[in-house]
Amino acid sequence: MLEHKLFKGKTLAILSGGGDTPAINSSIESVRNRASMLGYKVYGIRQGWKGLLGDGDIIDLTRQPYNGLYGGTALRSSRTNPFPSKKNPEDRIPQILQNLKRYKIDVLVTIGGDDTNGAAKRLYEQEGIPVIGFPKTIDNDLRTKTWHTFGETTVDAVVCPGFPTAAKRIAEFASILKTTAESHSRIMVMEVMGRDAGWLTGAGIFGGGTLSLVPEIEMNKERKDFFLERVKEAYLSNPKKTLIIPVSEGVRWYDDLTGKTDVVFASTEQDEYGHARLGGVSGIISSEISNKLKIDARAQVTGYYPRGGTCSEYDRRLTQTLADKVVDLLLREEYGQMPTLNKLCKYTDLEEFNCSSIDMGAIGNRSLPMEYFDANTFTFTPAYNDFLSKIIGHPCTPEFNYDFPIVVPEM
Ligand code: F6P
Repeated sequence: MLEHKLFKGKTLAILSGGGDTPAINSSIESVRNRASMLGYKVYGIRQGWKGLLGDGDIIDLTRQPYNGLYGGTALRSSRTNPFPSKKNPEDRIPQILQNLKRYKIDVLVTIGGDDTNGAAKRLYEQEGIPVIGFPKTIDNDLRTKTWHTFGETTVDAVVCPGFPTAAKRIAEFASILKTTAESHSRIMVMEVMGRDAGWLTGAGIFGGGTLSLVPEIEMNKERKDFFLERVKEAYLSNPKKTLIIPVSEGVRWYDDLTGKTDVVFASTEQDEYGHARLGGVSGIISSEISNKLKIDARAQVTGYYPRGGTCSEYDRRLTQTLADKVVDLLLREEYGQMPTLNKLCKYTDLEEFNCSSIDMGAIGNRSLPMEYFDANTFTFTPAYNDFLSKIIGHPCTPEFNYDFPIVVPEM
């Protein structure tokens, strides 16, 4: 059957590295299906770059049944850095090159964020390994150069597989917190993953969140005091006396005791790319609201909830569309590139003609554009709402606007 296929006799291998998303299996299946149609034998490298160390940990995906709707990654993931790092000074590149040779791997597709694809780019540039990057992160902070036009403004936005599903979950999560917060006239400080950027935190607005905090805005003493005043005003002016405040895990918050403004670490341990685990800022913010404003407040960490579960329709089609672009890159033998969505669009307009590729040297982190967040009001802007509604549809904020008449005892 494969006799006349263009790449018969060649092998393409896929790996996934970094934090998982609900769209990785869909990306693997989509790339695998298309690559095998071109004639490639398709391998999976297990646990990211780790699967190319030692004897190698490689599986054959070519004709295996695959469930792309199931979240996570069947190839599993790791934060292994092939290049020397503070945590691991060993140079693992010789082992990687040897395994690529031993397993006769001709092309690598690396599904990852800035770290995994940054390492892939170095392998391509330094060692000439044919690599195609594939974007992935729920944080949505990997530069994809996806243009979003809103009125007169064109924003250099990002759409990364994994984000659409995660954003939907965060919106639902906020809308669920809303009813319990209303019952107790509480403020809920909802912590959302996002080490360096607030793209995902904004999705809380689509579930009833109002004021928000993102890593892009440092909360020094003055800004913190100003924010707490805004919180009080917003709470008191709400007839139900409640607020949902989505905050990114990477918010830098002023500490009254130390006088320093910094992120809150869940652990001091660092991964091989130098990242420490963040977590806990929502607890600090909610206790300051309780203590300083005398308003009942609670913290809720959304944690891994947006990262798990099945892949949404948008992500399914986005990964298939980007995989179509991978075919184009393979046919042209254009390596060192990553497929991206060109213009922000709705689900129905996800098509290969709306894709381009960017040089992997140009990827890197992309913070939340200031067109999307108003630092003076701590709110996401109409431009962000337009951006997100194209991806996840309308906000999901059911309301029960009760205003029952008060009974006064008869005299
Ligand atoms: O990779 C992105 C991310 O989801 C971040 O938002 C978060 O800080 C990190 O992963 C946590 O990942 P893990 O706990 O799996 O190391």
